[in-house]
Amino acid sequence: MAIERTLSIIKPDATRRNLTGKINAKFEDAGLRIVAQKRIQLTMAQAGKFYEVHAERPFYGELCEFMASAPVVVQVLEGEGAIGKNREVMGATNPAEAAEGTVRKLYAQSIGENSVHGSDSEENAKIEIAQFFSEADIAG
Ligand code: CMP
Repeated sequence: MAIERTLSIIKPDATRRNLTGKINAKFEDAGLRIVAQKRIQLTMAQAGKFYEVHAERPFYGELCEFMASAPVVVQVLEGEGAIGKNREVMGATNPAEAAEGTVRKLYAQSIGENSVHGSDSEENAKIEIAQFFSEADIAG
């Protein structure tokens, strides 16, 4: 399988509870390498742009407010099949449906406050990574 890069975000519910290290350990234990990482406070405008595809959904406003409510950790994960592997490590969007041992099963508080985001395709990974990192920020 090809080496891929994916955009990961450790969300405000997790940074508030000081879970960054525990979540990063799950990624690294699965063979994903953290090749770029920064802790930032998103503005409402940045959150709105990032989740633009969900703009028509009823939860869009709430989602943007949540993402701008406390710092997030944005990161690039790299590895073989990194996009799918990260989605496996994260578990289902809704923690009630997430498999045992996944980040969302362990830490997510609700479908909205679900601790982590991960890109869902190669195309979206490229777009999402470019929103936060330039090539020079990534050391693979
Ligand atoms: P994420 O993987 O970041 O992609 C879109 C996000 O929207 C998702 O995780 C959830 O945090 C949020 N989301 C999806 N469905 C709902 C919902 N029904 N209610 C609130 N938030 C949701």
